[in-house]
Amino acid sequence: MPLWPVYTGAPAPHDGITRLPPPPPWRAFDGEPVLDPPEKDADAPDSPDRAHRATTYQATEETVQLVNAALYLRRPLLVTGPPGTGKSSLAYAVARELGLGPVLRWNITSRSTLHDGLYTYDPLSRLYAARHATGRPDAPAAATGIEDHLRLGPLGTALLPYARPRALLIDEIDKSDLDLPNDLLHVLEEGQYEIPELVRAARDVPGGRSEVLIDGTDQRVPVERGRVRCRAFPFVVLTSNGEREFPPAFLRRCVSLRLRQPDDAHLAEIVRAHLGEPDAYAQQLIRRFLSRVGSGELATDQLLNAIYLARSSGLGADSLDGLAEQLMPYLGRSPQPDAF
Ligand SMILES: Nc1ncnc2c1ncn2[C@@H]1O[C@H](COP(=O)(O)OP(=O)(O)OP(=O)(O)O)[C@@H](O)[C@H]1O
Ligand SMILES: [Mg+2]
Repeated sequence: MPLWPVYTGAPAPHDGITRLPPPPPWRAFDGEPVLDPPEKDADAPDSPDRAHRATTYQATEETVQLVNAALYLRRPLLVTGPPGTGKSSLAYAVARELGLGPVLRWNITSRSTLHDGLYTYDPLSRLYAARHATGRPDAPAAATGIEDHLRLGPLGTALLPYARPRALLIDEIDKSDLDLPNDLLHVLEEGQYEIPELVRAARDVPGGRSEVLIDGTDQRVPVERGRVRCRAFPFVVLTSNGEREFPPAFLRRCVSLRLRQPDDAHLAEIVRAHLGEPDAYAQQLIRRFLSRVGSGELATDQLLNAIYLARSSGLGADSLDGLAEQLMPYLGRSPQPDAF
């Protein structure tokens, strides 16, 4: 396979993102004012578990190809596959290798709406702040700025006009209600959104500029006339576990990557990356895992847990076998139904 100059699947960070060619003309965005790239991981390290996921990720050739296709085409990457095949971890690995800064993560539930992903606005806290500031219970809410009570969500932040792409993980999109994929499609297609509360308020502010907080940080970013438009289209990973069918229009606008259960060699690489060279017992667990993994009920993290315990517990092989069966219930035998 020829080496892609951008994402390579290598563990060491590099500046390949600077070699990303210009977007196709139909995916070129020109949002302003241009924002500096987010801090690099070296300055703002992710939490240790996220950093571990990122540094240990073993990408297949197909994964490398399709991540690059999504980056070049400025399209979201829809990653599907069985549990534990590394769908969520991929976003962290790409962000780390390419220095895209901390991953913005949006965990989807059946109650998630597009609005939650873009921003939240709390008019009651604004009213309360206005009354508190003036000491008058009947003070109008306009006495304090809207932007103090508004927070940009993960999707809203990813679409800010950053000079280089942010990484956005929209995790478990299959859990959403039926409307969310189509709503998302629209915003990701346009690369922009409006904050109506700020559009209205901008009429009274000279220059129409507000300074809005990014949720979970102390960082404020300028938003002009309540409109946000991206510049570098973000690297968006959407993950899905289930067999859910997405609308054809949605699928057409994503680059789709289907992850499969790792084969023998890939699994050994994964174990090596997380826990070092597999010893004889770990190799035996890997073989047993592979012989049962087709059932769809075993995930790589169960194997990693079993090998980790085998290494660290100091127990003999007999006890370890029992423990492995507990951790990977489908490995040794079918689980027994609970006795009542
Ligand atoms: N290709 C891989 N390289 C290294 N580690 C991997 C790989 N695939 C999975 N893992 C490890 O397996 C565990 C599960 O990975 P992850 O949570 O990314 O899977 P997932 O597909 O998102 O699972 P789920 O469907 O449950 O959300 C993590 O500890 C991860 O580090
Ligand atoms: Mg996941």
